[in-house]
Amino acid sequence: MYAINRKYLLLKMALLACVAYGAVHVALTAAGGATDADNAAMQGDGLQQQLPSAEMLLRGESQEAGRMLAALEDDSQAEAGLQLSLGGGAPPETTRTVAAAAARQAAAQQAKLSPITTKKPLTVREKVKEITQCLDRPMVPKTQQRGDYWVLYNYVRADRRHHCYESITYTTHADYSFLDNLVPLLERWQGPISIALHAPGTDFEYTIESIAYLRECTTPLVKEFVTFHVYFSTKHVPKEVPKHDALFQEPYNCSQPPPYLNVSSENMYKAQKKLLYPVNVGRNVARESAQTNYVLPSDIELYPSPNIIEKFLDLIAQNTGPLLSKNPKVFPLHIFEVSANQSVPETKTQLKEMLANGLAVPFHKKLCPGCHGVPKSKEWQSANESNGLHVFHVGKRNGRFLIKPSNTSCENDICTRLQGN
Ligand SMILES: *[C@@H]1O[C@H](CO)[C@@H](O)[C@H](O)[C@H]1NC(C)=O
Ligand SMILES: *[C@@H]1O[C@H](CO)[C@@H](O)[C@H](O)[C@H]1NC(C)=O
Ligand SMILES: *[C@@H]1O[C@H](CO)[C@@H](O)[C@H](O)[C@H]1NC(C)=O
Ligand SMILES: *[C@@H]1O[C@H](CO)[C@@H](O)[C@H](O)[C@H]1NC(C)=O
Ligand SMILES: *[C@@H]1O[C@H](CO)[C@@H](O)[C@H](O)[C@H]1NC(C)=O
Repeated sequence: MYAINRKYLLLKMALLACVAYGAVHVALTAAGGATDADNAAMQGDGLQQQLPSAEMLLRGESQEAGRMLAALEDDSQAEAGLQLSLGGGAPPETTRTVAAAAARQAAAQQAKLSPITTKKPLTVREKVKEITQCLDRPMVPKTQQRGDYWVLYNYVRADRRHHCYESITYTTHADYSFLDNLVPLLERWQGPISIALHAPGTDFEYTIESIAYLRECTTPLVKEFVTFHVYFSTKHVPKEVPKHDALFQEPYNCSQPPPYLNVSSENMYKAQKKLLYPVNVGRNVARESAQTNYVLPSDIELYPSPNIIEKFLDLIAQNTGPLLSKNPKVFPLHIFEVSANQSVPETKTQLKEMLANGLAVPFHKKLCPGCHGVPKSKEWQSANESNGLHVFHVGKRNGRFLIKPSNTSCENDICTRLQGN
């Protein structure tokens, strides 16, 4: 995955990019994000949340997709980490495990089919369904209090519904001034996105206008795939909050400029009132509302590698090697930044060239070397591109932190924005 943030084109290195070719660590279910309470605490001391937002995690929720998988570790407190490699080394497959998987599959099929039916191989999604045993989730609009916040869950829903095994949901958070990232992100992701927007006071109406603009005046992918949740402090409730089915009654005039472009922060309610940006509320709302079993919690400025949804589901369907572990698994991905004047690479081979030329660097290498370090990242970077997505490295974490908290200042705002200043 890579990304470019058009906001900071003036910067020498755009922050944007990230890539996730790869790799992962596994964490407990709770590791997908810090809690809302952590959030409050951390805002107070200016520390970054425990899991830096920029780490891309693919997390299997619900039974953690681990069910059919054999144990990796006996210690249930421990977490195993799988480092994925898109084009990194060979997959740790053996003929034996493949054969075993095939036998299991055949047996499962036999049980289901009548004797007359000829056996058809399962599709990737049928296999993912069987492996995860996940349950579909409804997408229902509802207004609920959550700590000090009101949350309008599923306030503007995507047209398309997904079965839990069908795709991966990109889950993220922002305020409306970041929504210029949504279209380029969607064009790469081509899958469901669940986004929580912080919209206190008068920021609310611009947020709604921005959503209307995105749905009516940009790509049809927005209506198809993006579900918006909106939240604000109970002390900063907007003047008027329409019911979800009363939104967008009037046609939007697309000749107007996008409401999210060139927003100066002094004009935002949040800045005028000096409100904190409740990052983990947004993260958690977006993640909990996803319809799919697997989610990719991310920052909106990080753009995934093309076709990663299909590649990841293929990996899950193969169900071999470390994937057989019953433990919860998280799949961290590598993140890279590319120069603002470069386009985001499409392949690992392109990435390797850019790294060699200094046109791409590992995420935050300059700002905070070590903060986002990934085990075996050198090995991964030197490995040649190969087909598909594979587990590159399996790590295990002891104790609470998978990734060291850093001093990177994230208070009051989205971290990546501060990095741009
Ligand atoms: C749409 O906005 C443009 C630019 O502000 C304006 O010229 C035009 O009259 C508007 N159209 C409608 C139907 O309001
Ligand atoms: C946004 O600001 C930039 C420079 O500050 C300017 O070139 C651009 O035209 C502005 N865009 C809009 C839509 O106002
Ligand atoms: C792009 O930016 C890099 C630094 O980030 C610089 O070294 C290079 O000369 C720039 N290339 C062009 C074509 O402007
Ligand atoms: C990687 O690819 C390069 C260029 O095709 C080749 O020279 C090199 O031997 C390859 N390295 C490995 C470890 O396969
Ligand atoms: C983090 O803060 C401590 C104490 O203020 C300081 O010694 C350390 O250098 C800082 N680390 C980074 C990466 O800024």
